[in-house]
Amino acid sequence: MKILVTGGLGYIGSHTVVELQQRGHEVVVIDNLYNSQESVKSKIESITKKSLKFIKMDATDYEGLLELCKLETFDGIIHFAGYKAVGESVKEPLKYYHNNLLSTINLARVAVELGINKFIFSSSATVYGDGVSPFDETMPLLERTNPYGETKAMCERILTDTAKASNLNVTLLRYFNPVGAHESGLIGEIPNGIPNNLMPYVTQVAKGIREKLYVFGDDYDTSDGTGVRDYIHVVDLAKGHVAAIESTKTGVNVYNLGTGKGTSVLEIINAFMDTNKINIPYVITDRRPGDIAVSYADATKAFKELKWKAEKDINEMVKSAWNFEMNLK
Ligand code: NAD
Ligand code: UFG
Repeated sequence: MKILVTGGLGYIGSHTVVELQQRGHEVVVIDNLYNSQESVKSKIESITKKSLKFIKMDATDYEGLLELCKLETFDGIIHFAGYKAVGESVKEPLKYYHNNLLSTINLARVAVELGINKFIFSSSATVYGDGVSPFDETMPLLERTNPYGETKAMCERILTDTAKASNLNVTLLRYFNPVGAHESGLIGEIPNGIPNNLMPYVTQVAKGIREKLYVFGDDYDTSDGTGVRDYIHVVDLAKGHVAAIESTKTGVNVYNLGTGKGTSVLEIINAFMDTNKINIPYVITDRRPGDIAVSYADATKAFKELKWKAEKDINEMVKSAWNFEMNLK
């Protein structure tokens, strides 16, 4: 298939492009480089030994998208492009609504107008709000606590309504907590400024960039009191996109992409220290506002319908995350 990947030089997008190329699909990437570097293109190429077409373009640019899609005749679109910082979205909601909604609307318009009938969207477990895990795809979406999460729920709605009114087949992929990096150490997550997420913070402490990790609360109702999440290796997540684009299912299909297993913050720290033989100094601090105690997936639907399941364990996640961090200049 020939696939347009938006945001394809970013963290999850770059790993997905690798898997798509390795499966023999033809890929064209657009990215505005807001949160990525053009050098990622050659890193992808050196992993796959295939050339990659990259166009610097904004996914909100309807005219540009239309022109590109008329020229290239795509079989499908995987839409990663968007902003993702929860805290920033609270401070600058319009920036988030503008980018995340407009890119999705304009891509969907072009897809419908040109008859590109496969559309895969990067959603998030955040749409389940503070519901009770394991989350399954039939659960009602609960109130979101921030504009970022709201954009994900809104985009799901926009795409669902569009699919009902057209030939567009939409797959909504709800990611749990993507971590780790490609085994080559060439691509991975490069956070902008102080990392918001646990794993990049841990790798920066390990490298000595930050003095210690702050563990946000140890009084949750969990085995050791710290927050529990469903961490998924980014390469497994990328393979989930290949399974989704190759699926012949029509209409609107929603899948959780997670492992189905919860891991606490202290378990992550211990796994990191044991596997990588590095000490991670940490202190327990207050809970982070908006955090929930436990979030993990019921991942059975993706296995049943897409024949996809996550294969890599926590040790591979912490090992590859550290390998990537060490390779970073
Ligand atoms: P990322 O920031 O690494 O990648 C996003 C890419 O999109 C970047 O390269 C950025 O430059 C590009 N981009 C942003 N706006 C654009 C626009 N208007 N036009 C063109 N390019 C644009 O983020 P990621 O972690 O790879 O996330 C990819 C998607 O998955 C996002 O939609 C994100 O919301 C979603 N998601 C991520 C997580 C996570 O924990 N990383 C969890 C759930 C969902
Ligand atoms: N945590 C710490 N210290 C840190 C960072 C995080 O203790 O410095 C804890 C959090 O309290 C939480 C766990 O580590 O218990 C994971 O936190 P992350 O920030 O890594 O991930 P979240 O589950 O909060 O959120 C992530 C993405 C969201 C997405 C959500 C569900 O950041 O965008 O997963 O997919 F919506």
